[in-house]
Amino acid sequence: MSVDSQAAPTPGGIAGDPLTGHRTLLTEATRAEMRQIIARYPQSRSALLPMLHLVQSVEGYVTQAGIEVCAAELDLTTAEVSAVATFYTMYKRRPVGEYHVGVCTNTLCAVLGGDAILSSLEDELGITHDETTDDGRVSLEHIECNAACDYAPVVMVNWEFLDSQSPRSTLDAVRTLRQGGIVRSTRGPEICTWRQASRILAGFGDGQADTGPAAGAPTLAGLRLAREHGWRAPGFDRHEHSADDQQAIAARRAQLAAGPDRPGTRVVEQSEQQPTPQPGAIAEAMGAVGNWIEEHLPGGTGHRDGKDTP
Ligand code: FES
Repeated sequence: MSVDSQAAPTPGGIAGDPLTGHRTLLTEATRAEMRQIIARYPQSRSALLPMLHLVQSVEGYVTQAGIEVCAAELDLTTAEVSAVATFYTMYKRRPVGEYHVGVCTNTLCAVLGGDAILSSLEDELGITHDETTDDGRVSLEHIECNAACDYAPVVMVNWEFLDSQSPRSTLDAVRTLRQGGIVRSTRGPEICTWRQASRILAGFGDGQADTGPAAGAPTLAGLRLAREHGWRAPGFDRHEHSADDQQAIAARRAQLAAGPDRPGTRVVEQSEQQPTPQPGAIAEAMGAVGNWIEEHLPGGTGHRDGKDTP
């Protein structure tokens, strides 16, 4: 079944979107890449999420043609694929801008300036949530928590973070992108276009996955405090790793000690200043949080596991 955009629709073929008149850009090469994605999973339907990202990378959004191709490749109904595509907000059912700007307006970001950032962008661009500028360069979305509250207020452009933003810094970044300039995420990678980002999310990397620090100072603040005060999770010392776990942890520690192991890995200065979290350190940080809750929240038992808190 051909999906060549130039071909006339054939019985059983992909004719594009009857409502919008959109002619599909999906090709046999796209279908071949879909099959590569499907081959990664023991259950073919598990491939649907990256396949929808692949559709967005080609079409710009999840088109009706994209839904039909995914359904055909996975032996699903179009209703099943549509249900997934309309459930997750990262999938768009109509075109977005080349640079899709998400501003977090959830509680922490809002009180630290997220609302002000969103309004300054609305004033600058003349659009609001879920709209795209006439030149097709920028679209706006207000987002409910980018899971980066330690860097609030946070903005994302095509899912790359711009941390600790202000209305001024966000406007500067968006103006630069709109004029065709280059903007780097505050975490390192160059911000790419919506279609390029969608292709990365489909699992076809751009070589920048290891760019930037693994975890910055705000993210590691709890761990630092826990170490300074010797806070431990109740029962942490009694936890025993299996022989397999111990072997995997030792191998990972040796790998980390040996440094970057992939060609093209670029370690930026900040990453050298930050300790890389170890498996035990993560449990340690979680333990510190548990101790704090026990100490400070109503209903806590006051159990200190033999350690004093300040
Ligand atoms: S509240 Fe904004 S990232 Fe969580």
